[in-house]
Amino acid sequence: MQSAQDLRSLKSKLVGESSPISKLNALIKDLPNDQKANAGKLVGSARAELNAAFEAKESELEALERKEQLKSETVDITASPSVLRHGARHPLSLLMDQVSEVFVGMGWEIADGPELENEWFNFDALNFHPDHPARAMQDTFFVSPVEAHLLLRTHTSPVQVRSLLERELPVYVLCPGRVFRTDELDATHTPVFHQVEGLAIDKGLTMADLRGTLEHFARVMFGPEAKIRLRPSFFPFTEPSAELDVWHPDAKGGPRWVEWGGCGMVNPNVLLAAGIDPEVYSGFAFGMGIERTLMFRNGVTDMHDMVEADVRFSEQFGSVI
Ligand code: DAH
Repeated sequence: MQSAQDLRSLKSKLVGESSPISKLNALIKDLPNDQKANAGKLVGSARAELNAAFEAKESELEALERKEQLKSETVDITASPSVLRHGARHPLSLLMDQVSEVFVGMGWEIADGPELENEWFNFDALNFHPDHPARAMQDTFFVSPVEAHLLLRTHTSPVQVRSLLERELPVYVLCPGRVFRTDELDATHTPVFHQVEGLAIDKGLTMADLRGTLEHFARVMFGPEAKIRLRPSFFPFTEPSAELDVWHPDAKGGPRWVEWGGCGMVNPNVLLAAGIDPEVYSGFAFGMGIERTLMFRNGVTDMHDMVEADVRFSEQFGSVI
């Protein structure tokens, strides 16, 4: 007998419906009446005896099998663990953490805002006039119904106004986060990407503070040789506005200027939207793309690598980049 299973099939053969004993039982009805009772008793006790024997053997076998199962499933809790293949943090997360650390190190706070944003925070409060062509600079995912005026934030700049409404002045905040635009995924575009926004509002802040802050930031990110350069530009929420270039000493293909982000002095209209007197307070803001930064800083050439989340891509960056 191999197992309880074998025993059960033998049992069904010997005492089951088509077993000899069941056939015998069926014949009883054809016996003369005075013999029926005796025959029934004989067949019944034979069946009972067989059943009892089967049950005894069955529980014996089951106990044995349970014992073997316990033995095979025994875990040696003193053994050293098998080494699992670890996942890897995504380089974009690592980069955002690194950026956050630079600013937390200067006493800034990390601010947060919703990805499903009010059109007012994303555009109006940032001085985008309803008909201003600048609104078209960003291809927006609006959420229906249109009357709700909800959209997927196209930049992290709405956190500027949210922070000013929520916090006590002075405000020094950094906001890393996810943003959305109606771009097709290709080597250099993705509809979902990341930005980091900085905002400083205090008494007496000037463009020199903006420059100094960005220079420090650039040196931490690109090495002590890094320099920055501001080129006049336009953003509705800053005046004056500038494009920020960084001199990247270790760029692939040699040191060069790379376009990194936008910045400027916060437009008085933005301060007014947050109920702040621009005669008393001033400040600066900046914003840059995290994917873009990773691309030119770490030589990533295809956006697909960043969105596909293949652990082999992430592993190359280890836990520090
Ligand atoms: N929000 C801008 C964008 O998505 C980037 C930007 C430019 C942010 C200038 C700023 C700024 O804070 O001052 O293109």
